[in-house]
Amino acid sequence: MWSEELLIGVEEIDRQHRELLLTLSGFMEALGNPQTSREYYRTTMEQTKALVIEHFNTEEKHFGEIGFTEAEYHTELHKSFFEKATDFDIELIKTDYDPEVALRLVEMLIAWFTEHIRCEDRKMADPVFWSGREETPRFQL
Ligand SMILES: [Fe+2]
Ligand SMILES: [Fe+2]
Repeated sequence: MWSEELLIGVEEIDRQHRELLLTLSGFMEALGNPQTSREYYRTTMEQTKALVIEHFNTEEKHFGEIGFTEAEYHTELHKSFFEKATDFDIELIKTDYDPEVALRLVEMLIAWFTEHIRCEDRKMADPVFWSGREETPRFQL
């Protein structure tokens, strides 16, 4: 779930993280409702995929702008995650949006994003945003 704890101080990236995690939370809630249609799962998964692609492109463009030293490693993390999520998505389509498969996928997505933002995206946090704040992120110096 999104919370202020996940802010890194780069406006566009923070906005995308928030939108992604709110979309996934909405999906999670809808899974608890037996009246949710498979069409909803399908369109929400499509929407999530588009958000993820846009988001990874934004971050990878940002690496160049700030001269991020872990750009290659970070891009590799995005790539392997995307492959894993795509395999899962194929399974979901094959099972005609089985709610159990959908639940496992959404849980995996939320866990991966939360952990990735905390441990990896934070390394590109804007030091200006954090100056004067109590908590200092682990940004690259
Ligand atoms: Fe991110
Ligand atoms: Fe990232």
